[in-house]
Amino acid sequence: MENTSALQLVRETDDFVASLIAQMDLAEKIGQMCQIDVAGEALSEELKARLSAGEFGSIINQVDVELVNEIQRVAVEESRLGIPLLIGRDVIHGFKTVLPIPIGQAASWNRDLVEAGARISALEAARAGVNWTFAPMLDIARDPRWGRVAESFGEDPFLASVLGAAMVSGFQGQSLRDNGSIAACAKHFAGYGAAESGRDYATTNIPENELRNVYLQPFHAAVTAGAATVMTSFGDLNGIPCTANGFLLRQILREEWGFSGFVVSDWDSVFHLKIHGLTADDAGSALEAAQAGVDMEMASTTYKQYLAQLVEQGKLSESVIDQAVARILRLKLALGLFENPYTEPEALPAYGNTQALDIARQTARESIVMLKNAETLLPLSANTLRSIAVVGPLADAPYEQLGTWIFDGDSALSVTPLEAIRRRVGPEVEVNFFQAMATSRDRNTDAFEAVAEAAGQSDVVLMFLGEESILSGEAHCRADINLPGAQAELVRKLKAAGKPIIAVILAGRPLTLTNVIDEIDALLFAWHPGTMGGEAISDLLFGDFSPSGKLPVSFPRHVGQVPVYYNHKNSGKPPSDDAIVHIDDIDANATQTSLGMTAFHLDEGFRPLFPFGFGLSYADFVYAKLSCDKQQVRLGEALRISAEVSNQGSCKAIETVQLYIRDLVGNVTRPVRELKGFRRIELKPGQTETVTFDLHTDDLAFFGRDQQRVVEAGEFRVWVGGSSEAELETGFSLID
Ligand code: NOJ
Repeated sequence: MENTSALQLVRETDDFVASLIAQMDLAEKIGQMCQIDVAGEALSEELKARLSAGEFGSIINQVDVELVNEIQRVAVEESRLGIPLLIGRDVIHGFKTVLPIPIGQAASWNRDLVEAGARISALEAARAGVNWTFAPMLDIARDPRWGRVAESFGEDPFLASVLGAAMVSGFQGQSLRDNGSIAACAKHFAGYGAAESGRDYATTNIPENELRNVYLQPFHAAVTAGAATVMTSFGDLNGIPCTANGFLLRQILREEWGFSGFVVSDWDSVFHLKIHGLTADDAGSALEAAQAGVDMEMASTTYKQYLAQLVEQGKLSESVIDQAVARILRLKLALGLFENPYTEPEALPAYGNTQALDIARQTARESIVMLKNAETLLPLSANTLRSIAVVGPLADAPYEQLGTWIFDGDSALSVTPLEAIRRRVGPEVEVNFFQAMATSRDRNTDAFEAVAEAAGQSDVVLMFLGEESILSGEAHCRADINLPGAQAELVRKLKAAGKPIIAVILAGRPLTLTNVIDEIDALLFAWHPGTMGGEAISDLLFGDFSPSGKLPVSFPRHVGQVPVYYNHKNSGKPPSDDAIVHIDDIDANATQTSLGMTAFHLDEGFRPLFPFGFGLSYADFVYAKLSCDKQQVRLGEALRISAEVSNQGSCKAIETVQLYIRDLVGNVTRPVRELKGFRRIELKPGQTETVTFDLHTDDLAFFGRDQQRVVEAGEFRVWVGGSSEAELETGFSLID
């Protein structure tokens, strides 16, 4: 019955779309394939005339709901065919209520929370008339210099797939037609995160096998989860810019994955094809992009200027245009825009409502990763403290805690760490605030002496360090990823004052912390935690909750190690802790040695400072009894892996139990470890739980030498634990 009605819906949709296209002239069709930026524009007579002429299928960057409704009215009532518009906006990690940046959300490893966060973002954005967001960003990010690591789910394809699919579901809801659902956009297809030297927009070269096994995985998951649209990357991938890349857009996305939504270019990225040197002129760019499968052009106007002429000259088949238009119209239909294109803000929850703030607070809390806690300095007990020094440029910066891509974020809603700490400890505890630096980049150390002296009078020093929002995000890459400005010096000065130092770092990327880690007694890495960051940080500092975040990216010791990621290949000369040589231990006039040497740096070894999956807790989790229910698993079957996890600490806490495997031999080499599952469990003190993972042999598939998915018989190693360096190990064999 259900199937029949689903089929009927498809037929009705197809009929509707086909009949509409049959009524459209070429210019109207091309209009649907164009998106215009109307940022800050009032509805001018010129814009009205262009909307009435059906020149656009979508607008971007208008969030004044009255204007959006008026724009829709002109499109629907004054254009010949009355086609409503897609209203696009970058709703990346919240709208008015801001959630942690995506890399922070990834650190929660909590798919339900990521989904819930996307839902509240969708509800708030829909209130402004937005019906299409450009998220989630699914680019695998192995380079912390890249500013957009902030928008990513990190370095691991499995984690990014799970969380990306969750975000798609949150934005799109049960049905796109529901009030408050907005269309998602999986971006940037594909390989954008591998920009050379972490410089945004720079060239990417990714071998096809690596592309398939790593970079494409999260996109496939998002498409499977029903993502309505996909955005191309700005990047040049293996010599063919993604916006003209038929291999990606036609072969993989449409033919192999059966994607039925539509593809939008990135901002001006069709126009960029000429600048890349792929085409000689804008007409050529329009042709390449349309033929490759870009259905809508964002911002630039090559489609508007040249598609008609390309069809008339016989260079581009009108059927390419018809297919693109059909896909765009289908989304408009699915969103219910033909029935009602207007937004009634009052029918949607208010901005910054309690539920939204609660989700923002929980997400921020779960995104924070505790990286150090010497002498169990944390949690603090408000009852035993007389005074706290709160120091640093990010302790009371309502805007800076929100992170990148928050055009609509309301910093008036922000609760800063300073505010939250004051509220939490009450009037009994003296809280002295010293900003010490004007910005995170400030190099002026004039105030440091006095700050150290004054802060040294307090029982404990809480430092709020890191990066301002503008230091990460699109086009904001850094070659040096140490704490910027004079922050390291401030840490040293305060340490010298003799009081315990607790650092809370707010940043848009992993930072190299080697030069400060020994000076700091405890460290919480809070990313840019969003509106409720202050409350979340205070929740953890004072032990109302235990930290539970786990790193979704490796933190290098030194920027020269980049890329450093846990799921690398073994190489023929893998390094080990007991077989590395340090640069200081090499004799003078040493002769060349290579025999016995392995893949490491003489000055930094081979390990990151903190590995993927790592994060401390106030509890003490102990893993034991790892086992597989069978030693041999047959192709097509599943095996159950279990481990006991006990909380031997004295507080209740959440642990993310991670499952890693290694396929020892493959027809292409396989990573030294791969995340294959994770489970979040909450254990009371003294509680033990047996955590199980059902691993099907399909989960062991990879793209082999011929770029086809294959599951190969052989030996597998298995680890379960609290990070990618989990030590508890077992194994099984897969037999045909
Ligand atoms: C460029 C960015 O790369 C993309 O992620 C974003 O969605 C568009 N601009 C629209 O703002």
